[in-house]
Amino acid sequence: MSISEARKAAKAPAVPVFGIADLHLPDCIGWGLNGSTPAEPWKLLSHAWQDAVPENALVLIPGDICHGKDLDQAHAVYQTIDKLPGRYKIITPGNHDWPTAHTLRELTDLTQETKTIIPVLGSAIRLDLNGRGIIVAGTCGAWPTMNGGGQKRPCYKKELRRMQNALIQARSLSQVNDSLIAMLHYPPRPDGRPTKMSKMVEEARAGLCVYGHVHDPERWRKLDARRHGPTTYRFLAADFLGFHPKRLGEVGRRGLRAD
Ligand SMILES: [Fe+2]
Repeated sequence: MSISEARKAAKAPAVPVFGIADLHLPDCIGWGLNGSTPAEPWKLLSHAWQDAVPENALVLIPGDICHGKDLDQAHAVYQTIDKLPGRYKIITPGNHDWPTAHTLRELTDLTQETKTIIPVLGSAIRLDLNGRGIIVAGTCGAWPTMNGGGQKRPCYKKELRRMQNALIQARSLSQVNDSLIAMLHYPPRPDGRPTKMSKMVEEARAGLCVYGHVHDPERWRKLDARRHGPTTYRFLAADFLGFHPKRLGEVGRRGLRAD
């Protein structure tokens, strides 16, 4: 970075980081387990998003974005999300996105006309925010007992390989003082205990790891706001968040600072 670029970055406002998973658009189904879904969840969620998320924000959306099998419907869902505030929206698929997008190619095709959405799936991207590099590496993940996979659902072993590839790509993109964020749909520590997936994330020194998927309040308290080694874990299922995008931190001139 040149001296003038460094001065410009020092004066720039911090970039807020927000996250929310499990939008289950367009019909907002899929939160049935908790029995407390509001009458108009998308109205609540989209209004909360417009109120809370500034235009310059980085927004992380780890899966279950489009709940359906129709490609035109999925395309319209991503157009809807594109219009919401946020300069960059990083997405990775969940199990309910599987019928329309379970490869990076499919997800890229569905989102290529958007201005703000960047997909990751077994891959990583690097953003320059305020002169600081933020790398987001992600995949869908799966429960450790899920094997087989294919067209219908993710396979744990394949998802481990995808995360490994994402973290290798992250390393190759990384520059001095960059921060790493890991993004998965399935919780990497399902019962608080470490797994092969969480070990990989922590060994890569991700500062933040976000995920969703679980819609059972009995299990929520085990999933959120834990720090293990260098990694702060944040659970972002929309129903857990009361349908309000969660502020996760900000990127200032010293890099990512998690709340
Ligand atoms: Fe979900």
